[in-house]
Amino acid sequence: MLPWVQRRARAAYERLLKREISGGPTHVAVIQDGNRRYADRNGGEAPDGHRAGAQTTERMLDWCRDLGVEELTLYAFSTENFDRPDHEREALFDLLERKLYQFADDDRVHDGEVRIRAIGDETMLPESVREAIRYAERRTDDYDRFTLNVALAYGGRNELLGAARDVARAVEDGDLDPDDIDVGEIDNRLYDDPLRDVDLIIRTGGDERTSNFLPWHANGNEAAVFFCTPYWPEFSKVDFLRGIRTYESREESWRRTKVKRAAALVRAVGGVELREAREVIDRFRDTLPEGTTVDELDAEGESSSAD
Ligand code: FPP
Ligand code: MG
Repeated sequence: MLPWVQRRARAAYERLLKREISGGPTHVAVIQDGNRRYADRNGGEAPDGHRAGAQTTERMLDWCRDLGVEELTLYAFSTENFDRPDHEREALFDLLERKLYQFADDDRVHDGEVRIRAIGDETMLPESVREAIRYAERRTDDYDRFTLNVALAYGGRNELLGAARDVARAVEDGDLDPDDIDVGEIDNRLYDDPLRDVDLIIRTGGDERTSNFLPWHANGNEAAVFFCTPYWPEFSKVDFLRGIRTYESREESWRRTKVKRAAALVRAVGGVELREAREVIDRFRDTLPEGTTVDELDAEGESSSAD
């Protein structure tokens, strides 16, 4: 196809996808995978792939603003990535350091009141990267319109182990009653300023794994997961919109399931007004597509097995 025809078709498709989106995710987390394979395919080395990936990262920030996302978490360097060859690791740290300074000084970050912060075990990182983190965090500390979390030396299980140790110490010191350990308590022990639960995880590059990324925050909201094949450097806004559509249809089916279960419960007790079930039905009735009746969902519930 001619390039301009392709561009116009793509723009039209983008507009179509955007129209289909109504209530998008608040917190999106991205596993930016496929940089080296992209570089390899284009005759480059791993650092070329990471540099190309960083350009997509910048575009992603613009798309998030455009689509009303309020928090973005990027998997930039995992604890497993320390096993990469020295030259790749060092080039990646240099790039991350440069990007952190660049983001922290970018007018778009200040105009959009973007708060930048790092998550992960900073003590494992080179001092120059830690200094860049401190700089970016300090320069954007007052903002809260949008949050950009950069996961560096990050491992989800490590993070949970840290919180578990912290809880154990507080119990041992008599500062915490085991009966008071709840979700909020763990949230507060993971970060001074807790992360929101994740609504949508995107992974590029074709692998269908979530690789130790945000296990606590992804489960809180039962995050939707969108796996796609483009390598991170070639991930486009259309791919992102598809990911958001996946989130929305998952939300929609989740709401239907809740109403179906509540309706089934009311039916099972012979029409007795069960307060909780009625509440669920009332809460979700308005969020279902126009014209959907509880009776319809109830009938669906009878004909299909458990979700
Ligand atoms: C995974 O692809 C990517 C990384 C380990 C690095 C991600 C970092 C960036 C995109 C830099 C920009 C980020 C910020 C926050 C400024 P891979 O190396 O595993 O590639 P492969 O799957 O093809 O082997
Ligand atoms: Mg990879």
